[in-house]
Amino acid sequence: MADTRDTTNASATTGRPAILLDCDPGHDDAIAIVTAARHADLVGITTVAGNAPLERTTYNALVMRDLLAIDVPVHSGSARPLVAEPRAAPFIHGESGLDGADLPAPTTPLDGTDGVEFIIDTCRNSEGIWLVPTGPLTNIAIALRFAPDIADRIAGISLMGGGTFGNRTVTAEFNIWADPEAASIVFGYGGPLVMAGLDVTHQFQATPTRIAQVAALPGQLARVLTDLFNFFASTYLSRHDPGSIQGPAVHDPLAVLALTHPELLDREAHHVAIETMGTLTRGMTVIDQRHLVERRESNCDVLTKVDADTAFDAIVEAIAHFAK
Ligand code: BDR
Ligand code: CA
Repeated sequence: MADTRDTTNASATTGRPAILLDCDPGHDDAIAIVTAARHADLVGITTVAGNAPLERTTYNALVMRDLLAIDVPVHSGSARPLVAEPRAAPFIHGESGLDGADLPAPTTPLDGTDGVEFIIDTCRNSEGIWLVPTGPLTNIAIALRFAPDIADRIAGISLMGGGTFGNRTVTAEFNIWADPEAASIVFGYGGPLVMAGLDVTHQFQATPTRIAQVAALPGQLARVLTDLFNFFASTYLSRHDPGSIQGPAVHDPLAVLALTHPELLDREAHHVAIETMGTLTRGMTVIDQRHLVERRESNCDVLTKVDADTAFDAIVEAIAHFAK
């Protein structure tokens, strides 16, 4: 039966979606944290191994919490995928996960190493939270397996991952490739699901003009983020054919903006399954786009188009809000 949950996003009290961000910072994860802190009710941050080892993605999340001076709990979660070996992405994000900027050391301690339990408890204690994973889906999958009841309590899951083409392999996007078994659990969980895949995130590039918008803002946060954008741009540009992109794809904030600024994104309902077996296709999101009666019932809103200028303005506004 179709899910009839109200996914119009708003929390009853503030009119903004309540978001638990599960991330692996990561340059674009850092921007997702800023975006969620400004435009949503950010109820917590959990970390996962992905772009860098868990210890470092957690450190980076704590750095971002300090830079924003927000009072949001940070809990570390899974140090490795369910089945696959952990494999980071230093060729995009550097060894630290956030290379390129002079990061101030965290001044506030981690709130716990119980990321999965934190996700479960948060969803049990408060109905209508959006889970927003922007890294490998390990924590979310384990939470859904240990506590299947949370599937009915959350508003939904809005994730960055997948697409009709890959970036880690020909067919697989990094977050899904990193833990396909976890992704398979999440895509099969049965509730509302939004997918910001590469088809839409590659429309959202940090061009030199957009990075200059950030550089023009005052203060330490803007300075750090400008340096991060410039590093992210250098790795992206060095890995792509000249002229094929204008800047790095700012993937992860789109999973947040899909909830906070839904009018800026087009979406199509499709059935999406995860390939966990294929020699050439492990980690692929198999999107059923057939116009045939036998196509499978949709389980996912796939984002297809973004108003990139307005969406980037929302990010600049978020950074400006915290700039001092
Ligand atoms: C995804 O992989 C990571 O490199 C980014 O942070 C993003 O979540 C893009 O494929
Ligand atoms: Ca990420």
